[in-house]
Amino acid sequence: MPLLEALSKHFRVCGYDTSAAVVNSLEKSHEFLSITSDKECLRDCDVYIVCVPTPVGEHNEIDISYIKSAAESVGDYIQSGNLFVLESTVYPGTTRDVCGAIIEKKTDLRVSVDFFLGYSSERLSPGSDQSSISAIQKVISGSCGLSKVMMKDLYQPIIDAGLHLCDSMEIAEASKLLENIQRDVNIALFNEFGDVCAAYGVEFEKVIEAASTKWNFHKYSRGLVGGHCISVDPYYFMAYASNRGHNLDVISAARRVNSAGPQKSFYKICNEIDKLDLVEPRILFLGVTYKENVQDIRNSGSLKVISRLTDRFNSVVVCDPLLQESPELSRSTKFSSELGNLSLDDFDVLIIGTAHQVIIDWIGRQGIPQKMFIEKRVLPLTLTTNSQLEGYKICL
Ligand SMILES: NC(=O)c1ccc[n+]([C@@H]2O[C@H](COP(=O)([O-])OP(=O)(O)OC[C@H]3O[C@@H](n4cnc5c(N)ncnc54)[C@H](O)[C@@H]3O)[C@@H](O)[C@H]2O)c1
Repeated sequence: MPLLEALSKHFRVCGYDTSAAVVNSLEKSHEFLSITSDKECLRDCDVYIVCVPTPVGEHNEIDISYIKSAAESVGDYIQSGNLFVLESTVYPGTTRDVCGAIIEKKTDLRVSVDFFLGYSSERLSPGSDQSSISAIQKVISGSCGLSKVMMKDLYQPIIDAGLHLCDSMEIAEASKLLENIQRDVNIALFNEFGDVCAAYGVEFEKVIEAASTKWNFHKYSRGLVGGHCISVDPYYFMAYASNRGHNLDVISAARRVNSAGPQKSFYKICNEIDKLDLVEPRILFLGVTYKENVQDIRNSGSLKVISRLTDRFNSVVVCDPLLQESPELSRSTKFSSELGNLSLDDFDVLIIGTAHQVIIDWIGRQGIPQKMFIEKRVLPLTLTTNSQLEGYKICL
């Protein structure tokens, strides 16, 4: 949507989505934009920009079916002289070998002769302050010299931060994977290092503080890695490499460490709760989405922690004020979107899964010293008990 909005200030743009529900909700919030699920809108366009999901399946197998289906749809309408641009996160070669090949097969048009291909990664970070599209430098590339010129003409008007033109689409595709895999690997390093420090009483936050005084040290936060990018994209590169006979030791190890996060958090929480020696602890779990201040629940590590907690304990209430009814949660837990209906007095244990600003503000109004939140904000999964919350804070 941010791309559609930005482009609509310079070009005639129509948004197409196969989901009528998505179109309905976006039409309400963006009444001046043309958004439809009618495929006929693909007729007579000059440029097709595709940004469909690239998820993984149950066993982390990559799923490019949405990309294939979108290329098939465009293939029904694309004409000579048109540009096809992919923005989804993909392994190197997808734009050319998957999308280009599908369109060539469906039409009698040839890549870089009759129609043109481009790739540009989506770099917005949901929930981040820097999420204005024009303020983020955009990586672009094309299938030939003319495609690259078309890509520049398309993106230049909307990107103030400038364009970075790659020699090939494969470089641009790989660069997006590297950006996200770098984060996954570094977070895994901090998770692993931090776990050992925590186990032996070495304050990891202080370790980071000290290490940060070195000019070339990069600071990351420990935590559960979820969402549809960082927890997913490494599998796209792993599949690309393994199909070519390469094992990726570092990337696979990072995935193993971060995937084990929810399980480890669950055991730590149980350990701490068991120490309280309560017959039936009343647990409140606040914040479920994969990241602070976003509404997205995809691959959220908190979901896995909650599922284990509800198996083990009878009284677990989950609340995320950023989520409406959530089928994933309602099946097995008492879920609420309303913080206002809750009182900390009714619970023995408070776990903060995701520290949305509204949650921090609400806890603040419940009377816990503000000093505590500053610490909690940097720690992703925090447990505290409610024996008036004095001296019981345990950061996981
Ligand atoms: N959302 C982000 O902030 C972000 C950031 C960086 C990268 N990405 C990448 O962008 C891609 C899209 O991610 P997303 O989170 O926006 O996905 P999303 O699931 O939120 O939205 C994708 C939309 O595509 C629609 N769709 C699916 N198949 C379609 C088709 N054949 N034709 C038309 N519409 C179709 C879906 O109905 C859905 O509404 C992914 O590759 C993701 O990794 C997203």
